[in-house]
Amino acid sequence: MEFSVLTVNPAKVETACLVVPLFQDGDLLSAAAKLDDASERLIAQLVERGDFTPELANVQLIPFAPGLAAERLLLVGLGKRETFNEGALRKSLDAAFTTLAKLPVDSAAVAFADAEVEDRDVAWNAQMTLESATRAVYRFTQCKSTQSPAPQLRTIELLVSETNQADSAKAGARIGAALGDGVNLARTLGNLPGNICTPTYLANQAETMAAESAGSLDVEILDEAELEALGAHSLLAVGRGSAEPSKLIVMKYQGADNAEESPHVLVGKGITFDTGGISLKAGAGMDEMKFDMCGAASVFGAMKSVIALKPKLNVVAIVASAENMPDGRAIKPGDIVTTLKGLTVEILNTDAEGRLVLCDALTYAERFEPASVVDVATLTGACVIALGDHASGLFSNDDDLALDLLEAGEASWDRAWHMPLWDDYQQQLDSNFADLANIGGRPAGSITAACFLSRFADKYPWAHLDIAGTGWDSGKQKGATGRPVGLLTRYLLDRESELVVTPEA
Ligand code: BES
Ligand code: MN
Ligand code: ZN
Repeated sequence: MEFSVLTVNPAKVETACLVVPLFQDGDLLSAAAKLDDASERLIAQLVERGDFTPELANVQLIPFAPGLAAERLLLVGLGKRETFNEGALRKSLDAAFTTLAKLPVDSAAVAFADAEVEDRDVAWNAQMTLESATRAVYRFTQCKSTQSPAPQLRTIELLVSETNQADSAKAGARIGAALGDGVNLARTLGNLPGNICTPTYLANQAETMAAESAGSLDVEILDEAELEALGAHSLLAVGRGSAEPSKLIVMKYQGADNAEESPHVLVGKGITFDTGGISLKAGAGMDEMKFDMCGAASVFGAMKSVIALKPKLNVVAIVASAENMPDGRAIKPGDIVTTLKGLTVEILNTDAEGRLVLCDALTYAERFEPASVVDVATLTGACVIALGDHASGLFSNDDDLALDLLEAGEASWDRAWHMPLWDDYQQQLDSNFADLANIGGRPAGSITAACFLSRFADKYPWAHLDIAGTGWDSGKQKGATGRPVGLLTRYLLDRESELVVTPEA
C-alpha cells in the first residue's frame, strides 16, 4: 500500500473518499468539526437525526457532500470515549477499510490521527492505519479459476493536524505497510492447500525471498540426507510416512553493523499437513490441518517485514517442515527416536508431532549463540480450549523475554497470555523406556507440550508461542490470520532500539 501524509484543511482535500472517525459521545473530533463547518453541519445533523450512530465499527458512506472537495465521505464510529483503546481503534479501522476495499476508489484520505489512544502516539496510529488498509485489500484467489474484481484501493493519504506530526506519521506508516505485507504473506502460505504448500514449497519460498531481497537474506536448506548426517532423527521421524521430503529451512538476515552480534532467532513449526499419522485424527474438519504450518508462515511473514524495514540487528529464522502421514514406513506409538540433542524420546502419540520437529530445530539454533529464541507453533488443541482465538499462549524460561513479547503483543494488538512453565509439570513427560515421552496426558496439555520443548531450549533465553487458536479462523471466514506476524515484528523492531547505546554523560 502506498501512502503520503497531508497537513491541509480536510474540507479542501481532493480525494475519492475522505474517511472520518466520530465518537458516540462528546464534541466532534478536529477533522470532523472542520468538515462540519464547511458542509452546512452535515455530520452533526446526520448524528442528531439518528441517521448515523457512531457505535464502534459502524460505517456510513455519504456519496457526495456539499462544500467539501472530497468526492465521498465515509463516517466511521469509534464507540464511547471511555472504552476506546487499541482494540477499538483496530476494529474501527478494519470496518472502514473493509468498506473502502469494496468501493470503486483507488485512494482515500484518512483522518484517523484524530482517534487518539491513550499512551500511543501519531506514529503508532499511522502504523495501525496502514496495516489495516493492507490487510483489508488481501484476497486469496490463487486457487479460483474465475476471479472476482480485485480491490482498487492502492494509496492512503494520512491527514494530520500539525506539520510537526508528519515525520512520525510517515515513520509509522512505513512500518504498518511492511507489517501488513508480512501478515498477508503469512496468510497466503497458510491458506495454500497441503498438496501445493509442501515442505519443498516452503523451501522454495525461502529461496525466492532471498533472491528478491537484494542480498539482505541468506538461505540454507537442509534436506533429508543432510538432516540424517546431522542426527536430526526426531524431525525426520515425523516425515517418514510421507512421500514429501522433510526440510530444515534456515534464513539469515544481517542488519547489525557487527556481523558477530548475537542474532534473535525465530523458529516455526512447518507441518504442511497433519493427519495425526498412525494416531490418526478424526475426519471432521481435518482439512484445517493444512494450517499446521501457520507458525512457519508467521516466521516467513516476519522475515518479509524485516527485509523491508531493514532494522539494525541480526535475525535468523528456522523452519522445521514435514508432512505427518500414516504409512507403512510411518512412526508408530511406542517408537523411540534419538533427537539432535542426544536425548531419546518415546513417541506415545504420533499426533504430537510438532514438538518432535521443533526440538531438533531448537537444538540447531544453539549454533547461532542467540540473544533470544522464539518458536511459533500451532502446537496443541489444549491451547485453544484455554485461550480461544484471542490470545496466543506464551511460555518462557526467561521472564524478561516473556515481558518483551507481552509488550510487543499489546503494542501490535496481537496479544499473548503468559502461561506457567513450572517444574511441577515436567514429570508428566516421564517415560519408562526413553529419556522422555512426547505426550504428558490430558491435564495441562499446552503446558506439557511447552515443557517438552523447554528440555531442548536450555542454552539461551527462549519463549514459545502456541498459536493453535490464533493462527487461523474457522467457519464461514475460514482462513489464516497472519498472526503473530505483528507481535514478532514489533518484538524485533524493539530490540533494535535497545541496541542504541546512549553516550555516557
Ligand atoms: N496440530 C495439532 C494441534 C492442533 C489441533 C491445533 C487442533 C489446532 C487445532 C497438533 O499436532 C496435535 O495434534 N496436538 C495434539 C497433541 C496431543 C496428541 C498430546 C492435540 O492437541 O490433540
Ligand atoms: Mn498433530
Ligand atoms: Zn500438528
